Amino acid sequence: MRNKVVMEELEEIEEETISMDPKKINSVKDLPGVGAATAEKLMSAGVDSLMSIAVSSPGQLVELSGVTEAVARKMINAARDALEMGFESGDDLLKKRERVQKISTGSKAFDEMMEGGFETGAITECFGEFGSGKTQLAHILAVSIQKDDPDAVAVYIDTENTFRPERIIQLAKGANLDPDKVLKNIRVARAYNSDHQMLLAEKVNDLIKDKSLKVKLVVIDSLTAHFRAEFIGRGTLAERQQKINKHMHTLLKLADAHNLLVYVTNQVMSKPDTFFGDPTQAIGGHIVAHSSTFRIYLRKGKKGSRVAKLIDSPNMAEKECGFFVTEGGLKEI
Ligand code: GTP
Ligand code: MG
Repeated sequence: MRNKVVMEELEEIEEETISMDPKKINSVKDLPGVGAATAEKLMSAGVDSLMSIAVSSPGQLVELSGVTEAVARKMINAARDALEMGFESGDDLLKKRERVQKISTGSKAFDEMMEGGFETGAITECFGEFGSGKTQLAHILAVSIQKDDPDAVAVYIDTENTFRPERIIQLAKGANLDPDKVLKNIRVARAYNSDHQMLLAEKVNDLIKDKSLKVKLVVIDSLTAHFRAEFIGRGTLAERQQKINKHMHTLLKLADAHNLLVYVTNQVMSKPDTFFGDPTQAIGGHIVAHSSTFRIYLRKGKKGSRVAKLIDSPNMAEKECGFFVTEGGLKEI
């Protein structure tokens, strides 16, 4: 699906790029103008995937790898072409926006903060310390999608062995749903390491195609724990970020192609050098931050309550709300 505008842009640059078959470009090394030395420089700077090239500016690549600006432009265009990053028309995008559904959290205050609930067609990331309610929210969403549509299916990729069917039964009862039916519509897979986790995310497509399941929600709880445990030390950071980037790309494509909600959880690490504000920071760096459409910071509030803060959203202001986690679901303060 090559786009006319992309084609016109391409015609302006040299023939060698045009004659290159975009399908043959699988990695940064395959890009025009990238030799071993350039590839090495880019890799060590963490620019190690076609996506990270495609979203770079020519100036950034010049600075990182020492190539000329013309070569940088060619690399970027070829990467964009290989990834089939075309343009969508405004009215197509509006149609996409119209099919967006809002999944209720069960708390009025939380839903209001999210302007109706968690959006389908997007990735929502919740980060916060242990016990802040990230896993609880995953269970709540898996039940909530079945309120509007009894056939809606949740795929739950569990990396920390914290999915509890007993908890689903409580929440289903709280939502006046048949617990057995709700449980049947949740498909859980335990991910044993980061590669397994990435593979499971890719397999969601097969579930949708082969079994024609109406998947409305994909949960990854936790998105970053395996990566954090497996890639230790500075030297492995680039590889870790490359893998997370690929994983997020798979998830984004799933959300977009099937209009489903992707909910991912993320731990925080302490930032001891912070003097002002909250001394915690989400794991996964800018790749997770930029790939998530919505980012919510969860923390413990007064008297056992929880506070959610919307940090990053394309069209909503930064806001905060509070609620209680109870047996039957979220309750107002
Ligand atoms: P980590 O995975 O350790 O990072 O934490 P998390 O953010 O996933 O925390 P989680 O969602 O597991 O929250 C656990 C908290 O939810 C508990 O400390 C309880 O306060 C609350 N909780 C869990 N189950 C229930 C329940 O059945 N009833 C009530 N009232 N609270 C519950
Ligand atoms: Mg958890």
